[in-house]
Amino acid sequence: MWMSLLLACPRAQPPAPPLGPDLFPTALHMLYVSDAMDLARSAILSGDRAEARRQLSWLANNAPSAEDLPPSLAPFAAIVRDQAARGAAAREPVEIAAALGEMATACGGCHAASGLGPIFAVELLPPGMSPEPHMERHRWAIDSMWEGLVSPDDELWRAGAMAFLEEPLPDTEPMFEASGAWTNALHALGTYGLELDDPDTRAALYGQLLGMCASCHEASGGGPMPPR
Ligand code: HEC
Ligand code: HEC
Repeated sequence: MWMSLLLACPRAQPPAPPLGPDLFPTALHMLYVSDAMDLARSAILSGDRAEARRQLSWLANNAPSAEDLPPSLAPFAAIVRDQAARGAAAREPVEIAAALGEMATACGGCHAASGLGPIFAVELLPPGMSPEPHMERHRWAIDSMWEGLVSPDDELWRAGAMAFLEEPLPDTEPMFEASGAWTNALHALGTYGLELDDPDTRAALYGQLLGMCASCHEASGGGPMPPR
């Protein structure tokens, strides 16, 4: 019943459910948290800063609370809430994106420490030559890197970074002035992810990448539709 409620109205977030008997966060609580994170990421990509901040301020108050948790997990919960609060108070998309990157790594840290957490299905890269599928592949790439941080799963991180190895969009029909420079920088930054091994540098790179997507969408007036 909870499940169908959740799927029917993912934005009506109720107060966080209590912890499980082992004092770990429950799967249901995690689904709300994960849903809010996905909405925040989609919002920032489509230039809706207010919605991103709204989701982050929910997370700052409703993600697992360090006070309730065993010492092995508490520090990760503290980072998630602190970074959510930072993102909720931030003005610029790059700063919100940076907070999201730090959060994803803390999610992954807690999953690794608890030996539990999500398992993400591998999806196929969308094919096609025009700008739309190219952008869909960027979305695929940052989703895979995200899942790589949250799981944590090295293969998913690397698969996402590898997707940026494809040639940038040709500059013959630029989407707008100077889009070539943005595109080249984006691909270089994405593939740099292949050289990073530790969660903290990956988190920082993720924030920079997502910030670049968001900034270019704001500058160009392009980007995906808002998540609603
Ligand atoms: C304090 C530790 C902790 C933190 C922080 C944490 N998680 Fe979790 N997460 C867990 C535990 C424990 C489970 C396993 C729950 C279960 O199955 O009982 C889990 C499970 C999940 C699941 C799978 C739920 C399902 O369908 O079974 C998802 C998705 C998830 N977490 C996402 C996140 C995201 C995104 C973040 C960061 C914003 C995060 N988690 C932060 C401990 C944590
Ligand atoms: C050079 C500027 C630029 C950068 C950098 C950029 N985008 Fe885009 N993006 C656009 C423009 C312009 C559009 C709308 C153009 C179109 O749909 O043809 C767009 C559209 C999209 C779409 C919607 C595509 C569709 O099917 O309609 C998605 C999804 C997307 N971008 C994701 C991303 C992601 C993720 C990143 C970062 C990894 C990114 N973009 C980086 C300019 C950019």
